[in-house]
Amino acid sequence: MLVNQQQYRTIWPNENAELSLSGVSIIDQTKLPHRFEIVTIQSLEQMIDAINNMQVRGAPLIGAAAAYGVALAMQQDASDLYLNHAVMQLIHSRPTAVNLKWAAQRMLKKLLDLPVADRLSAAWREAAAICDEDAELNQAIGGHGLMLIKALAAKKPSRLNIMTHCNAGWLATVDFGTALAPIYAAHDAGIALHVWVGETRPRNQGASLTAWELSQHGVPHTVISDNAGGHLMQQGDVDMVIVGADRVTSTGDVCNKIGTYLKALAAFDQNIPFYAAVPSPTIDWTMTNGLKDIEIEQRSPRELSWINGMLANGELAEVNILPPNTHVANPAFDVTPARLVTGVITELGVYAPDQLKNIPFNNGLG
Ligand code: MRU
Repeated sequence: MLVNQQQYRTIWPNENAELSLSGVSIIDQTKLPHRFEIVTIQSLEQMIDAINNMQVRGAPLIGAAAAYGVALAMQQDASDLYLNHAVMQLIHSRPTAVNLKWAAQRMLKKLLDLPVADRLSAAWREAAAICDEDAELNQAIGGHGLMLIKALAAKKPSRLNIMTHCNAGWLATVDFGTALAPIYAAHDAGIALHVWVGETRPRNQGASLTAWELSQHGVPHTVISDNAGGHLMQQGDVDMVIVGADRVTSTGDVCNKIGTYLKALAAFDQNIPFYAAVPSPTIDWTMTNGLKDIEIEQRSPRELSWINGMLANGELAEVNILPPNTHVANPAFDVTPARLVTGVITELGVYAPDQLKNIPFNNGLG
């Protein structure tokens, strides 16, 4: 997607002077929207840190990062022992998004059967394939979501208002995004639309990442506090909600960034269609009850008590907003039960949540 009119993906391998691969480039998302910085990751350990401290984040992107993490590990040591170690470390770096486990296990399956000498080059190839596939799946989601938006826009004389949560745009994927892919497709097709962007405390990925990428693409949008979502729906200012997901059960329960459930409840109460945009690697066929089965990541209290921003002099800074010794809880995701979800937009089409299990997906999980 476009950054200052230049095409970027969120992750790519570096070629050195001998045309062999060395290191992986990522966009450091902890610096956005104030700085656009590209960082080189050289080792498995650095990739695990980048996932853990959210320089790379978003379910599909951390899957791609895990794949490259395995390739970097093969550069260090291509033995069975180290391969298994790398895969386990990556899977545990963030527990909720199933894409990470999916990608790491796909790498393991591909590499374990190969002679040790062939593993490094095969790992680079497989990680690149995972990235290309992610971009393709998201582009297809964009096409199916576009049809939904077109149908709603045809019934409305003024511009369509779409609400989203967190960042499920291209920054959360390798390219195109999941929830934002239909929005970009509709905007590019000339449909008049406007996006309500929930800021998404505590890390504010809506305010800092979604607002930034929508403005890079010229899509009209307005940032709102998370608490404003229900009110805007009651006022008739929201025509549809589209969110991404970190894990969806085979029964259609949608686990996404904390606060998604509240938006889904308000949308249900106001009879506003609520969609989750989900590539097949985000569906966990082993799980049938999202509330019981999905591990919710508990993140550091520091994410609530300190806020990142830019000072008037242009320096980046962190400021503390809580009284000393205040207890803080920071669950990072919640589960929206299938009954509140109008449809799941996948690369194969749009499905009612209870129809997912009948779709011929084959993502290798479960
Ligand atoms: O904690 P994050 O920033 O990795 O969470 C991201 C989200 O919850 C996104 O909505 C999700 O990954 C959607 S997938 C494009």
